[in-house]
Amino acid sequence: MDTMTGLGRSQYCAAVTEGDTDKEVVLCGWVERRRDHGGLIFIDLRDRTGIVQVVASPDYAETAFKKAEEVRNEYVLAVRGIVRLRDEATINEKMKTGKIEIRCEELRILNTSKTPPFYIEDNIDVDEKIRLKYRYLDLRRPEMQNNLIMRHKVKHAMREFLNSRGFIDIETPELCKSTPEGARDYLVPSRVNEGKFYALPQSPQIFKQLLMISGMDRYYQIARCFRDEDLRADRQPEFTQLDMEMSFMDQEDILTLTEEMIGYVFKEALGYDIGGPIRRMTWDYAMENYGSDKPDLRFDMKFHDITDLVKDTEFKVFRSVVEAGGQVKAINVKGYSHIPRRELDDLVEYVSAYGAKGLAWICFTPDGLKSQVKKFLGEETLEAVGKECGSETGDLVLMIADKPAVVAASLGELRKEMARRTNIIDADAFAFTWVVDFPMFEYSEEEKRFTAMHHPFTALCDEDLDKLESDPGSVYAKAYDLVLNGVELGGGSLRIYRPDIQQRVFKAIGLTAEEAEQKFGFLLRAFEYGAPPHGGLAFGLDRMIMLMLKRKSIRDVIAFPKTQNAIDPMSEAPSPVALKQLHELHIQVEEELVKK
Ligand code: AMO
Ligand code: AMP
Repeated sequence: MDTMTGLGRSQYCAAVTEGDTDKEVVLCGWVERRRDHGGLIFIDLRDRTGIVQVVASPDYAETAFKKAEEVRNEYVLAVRGIVRLRDEATINEKMKTGKIEIRCEELRILNTSKTPPFYIEDNIDVDEKIRLKYRYLDLRRPEMQNNLIMRHKVKHAMREFLNSRGFIDIETPELCKSTPEGARDYLVPSRVNEGKFYALPQSPQIFKQLLMISGMDRYYQIARCFRDEDLRADRQPEFTQLDMEMSFMDQEDILTLTEEMIGYVFKEALGYDIGGPIRRMTWDYAMENYGSDKPDLRFDMKFHDITDLVKDTEFKVFRSVVEAGGQVKAINVKGYSHIPRRELDDLVEYVSAYGAKGLAWICFTPDGLKSQVKKFLGEETLEAVGKECGSETGDLVLMIADKPAVVAASLGELRKEMARRTNIIDADAFAFTWVVDFPMFEYSEEEKRFTAMHHPFTALCDEDLDKLESDPGSVYAKAYDLVLNGVELGGGSLRIYRPDIQQRVFKAIGLTAEEAEQKFGFLLRAFEYGAPPHGGLAFGLDRMIMLMLKRKSIRDVIAFPKTQNAIDPMSEAPSPVALKQLHELHIQVEEELVKK
């Protein structure tokens, strides 16, 4: 095997241009492909910038040619050669370096490679498990390299912006106190303190608030967070947040500053101009019109409330729902009145997965209106529904009657599904919105208590303070989320900074004074020593980059992610550990688990 001794890389592969013609260059990289044409051997040499074609021939250098004969895919090479313009006929317009090639004077094989389990190229059709098992090879593929480079650019732009606005980057602990509220904690046993555990942080929330009490005034951190929750395409057990907190700023100041940062990041990293200020809608408006607190606004298709139009009709289903305090809502699907009957039956099934008990439809066809509920509702009412929904000939109206929560969930999902089916989503669009004025609490049927919708440190709307004990369900919070294309990019709030109000909120979510003291005593104490008004937010960095790159999963923008089962197929974490380690940690594991 050769070494690099005496040979310094002169530039990256794709950095060679026509301007370098006749110059000598030294390039290093991996062999994407080798083509042997008898007296000529072509090697596509790849590094993280792209590919350049190297040509070896006994006419240029005998020894280098002999070496080139030994070369196989993914061997690691250093090549010294002369840049030449290609003949007109062999120019490759698709390649950045397609007008030139390197005539090989010297070729060094720095390392060999086994045949990789998949081709190192874009658009491969390989099971993700295999890609994750050989992640170091997967990350050699140009699209994955591009993803990680974009991630770097985004973080760089964030830091640049925040540094320029006086924010200070401060690290907070990874070994914390377990205060489960929200997701489950990842626990770390303490060796020195027998029987005690640290928790990995779900977010730096409490620490960043303490930093405000310390007077740091503007804090940020690109922070790793850990949550032991069920995983999905946009959730990982460990993920990264851009976490921010600031003092002496009201909600408007925070939203404006954040918008400027998002605009800067999209411009710098992606070259995309997000346009003017980001629109804002209240949580109530989002739920009423889109059935979701993270509406996808790349298309409209708002809900129409038709409860009043149908409540007095013969149709028992609708009437009884309304009598029981429910509602009837509809969406208008443009130009889809020709939907096949079978597809309508499918849709009934589709919405039933979200709890809907049925789905009524009206097709405004050129031959008149058709509906399975025409005999119950009558043509006149259906026409009125169409009018309310702004329907025109050729449109399809879909209606669901149920409790508000079920209508929101099922019609909200149906809205997105119909947008996909009728192809109205602009794949290039970035549709941002702030959702503001969240309810402070939601009632958990499972736990039979109120839980904080954001987290229990969120400030309440001033006018709702006196309802905190009497009617917690109607209390609103100074909380906000930033939504992009139907995904929650980030969220935050103004915070409580008075111990008495914090105590009352803990009580409202069912914590006794002792529990509150045991879990959050240190925070309550800190509030007694001059806590400034403060607030902040955190962005899911992985989600943001996923959306910027139009990827379907955050796994594609994380160098070494876990599978849906929270496993790393490459290193095989999590794994069993030696009994000795467990003993040191004062942990006993059932014998059969140790062996597994
Ligand atoms: P929240 O819990 O809303 O707020 O988290 C902020 C953002 O982090 C992202 N996110 C995730 N990304 C990947 N995998 C996960 N499992 C995951 N969970 C959350 C989301 C989300 O919007 N401390 C508060 C913020 C604050 O109030 O300042 C917090 O953590 O994009
Ligand atoms: P039924 O009288 O239950 O057979 O319902 C008549 C039609 O109304 C069926 O096609 C159902 O799909 C539809 N339907 C039933 N329940 C609902 C509901 N809650 N919302 C909308 N449509 C419904």
